[in-house]
Amino acid sequence: MKRNILITGGAGFIGSHVVRLFVNKYPDYRIVNLDKLTYAGNLANLKDIEDKPNYEFVRADIVDIDEMRRIMREYQIDGVIHLAAESHVDRSIKDPFTFARTNVMGTLSLLQAAREYWESLPKKFDGKRFYHISTDEVYGALELTAPEGIESPFTTTASSAEHHHAYGEEFFVETTKYNPHSPYSASKASSDHFVRAYHDTYGMPAIVTNCSNNYGPYQFPEKLIPLFINNIRHRKPLPVYGKGENVRDWLFVEDHARAIDLIFHEGKDAETYNIGGFNEWKNIDIIRVIIRTVDRLLGNPEGYSDELITYVTDRAGHDLRYAIDSRKLQRELGWEPSLQFEEGIERTVRWYLDNQEWMDNITSGDYERYYDEMYKNR
Ligand code: NAD
Ligand code: TYD
Repeated sequence: MKRNILITGGAGFIGSHVVRLFVNKYPDYRIVNLDKLTYAGNLANLKDIEDKPNYEFVRADIVDIDEMRRIMREYQIDGVIHLAAESHVDRSIKDPFTFARTNVMGTLSLLQAAREYWESLPKKFDGKRFYHISTDEVYGALELTAPEGIESPFTTTASSAEHHHAYGEEFFVETTKYNPHSPYSASKASSDHFVRAYHDTYGMPAIVTNCSNNYGPYQFPEKLIPLFINNIRHRKPLPVYGKGENVRDWLFVEDHARAIDLIFHEGKDAETYNIGGFNEWKNIDIIRVIIRTVDRLLGNPEGYSDELITYVTDRAGHDLRYAIDSRKLQRELGWEPSLQFEEGIERTVRWYLDNQEWMDNITSGDYERYYDEMYKNR
């Protein structure tokens, strides 16, 4: 079947994996990648598919509603997969307004432009879909009731042998009440509410998914894993916030992209699905795995980079634990993570070490100045 799919934020980390998957898997679809190319957007992430006949790039700002209206009409869009966002918690603490602008107003502009275009067609919402990508951070933070980790109540074929446990009895489920703490998560929560409101008020065919922390190639090096890999390579300090006791649930980005493909095609209208790796790690433990892996791949003696660990002032409002229960997605659509964490992290570290030019292009210039500013007071 021929379809015209608009993917927003396709030049970013997760978006580039989704664009790549769709362009390669669906030669009959026209994939339109809409991205503003902020500091986080990088067309080098898509070099391998940019010449494919079913791929087009449009540079635009999702807040610009007239431009969104034009793009919906010009490309006759029948499906939207919306990933464009400001995505980094630390930046949201410094500059909350940019997060409200892009994540709230941008999502609203896109919703309204899609609604107007689809309502103008003879078949209206029939065969259309607006799929909004969100985060588990909207649910707030969970307690850390089992500091040493307890046996996970979940099993997946990909769960990590070394680290198959949870740090508490509670998990985020699709009905968990929203309780965002950071300007980032507050802006994402607001955008989720607008998507659901467009469904409930106007009948917009919409789906929302909330995913845990992603890791993998092409992630901007302000986020924990690529930042630390790069700093180890340059023998720079590794800034661990607080005591490094916060827990995150890590999912390999290609597994998220696979889930997005499945849900876009087979998910039920108006539903929410949680996506997660059943793979909880304390920051300090994951940092030690990264150090060990980078040192081994660089041929350094074991423990060589341990001294780079530097405990710094904690992030304001730092959520203690995120943990997703993604059994609904497993049960209803048959998805589960495909990679063992050890394999995912090995592939990830190797990718960053093998693609140093990609990293160096990003970390020169503006980013370097931003990073120095961010850490000079810590
Ligand atoms: P990213 O920061 O790497 O990429 C965001 C992309 O959006 C960039 O290409 C940027 O240029 C583009 N963009 C930003 N503002 C824009 C605007 N006004 N108009 C058009 N494009 C704009 O983010 P990511 O980590 O790939 O996250 C993608 C989505 O997934 C976000 O909505 C995020 O909230 C969500 N999410 C991320 C994670 C994660 O761990 N990274 C987890 C769950 C959900
Ligand atoms: P991050 O990658 O920013 O993702 P998020 O805040 O969305 O979970 O951070 C992951 C965890 O690592 C989080 O608990 C904050 C912590 N962290 C550090 O300790 N040091 C750092 O330099 C960064 C970027 C994050």
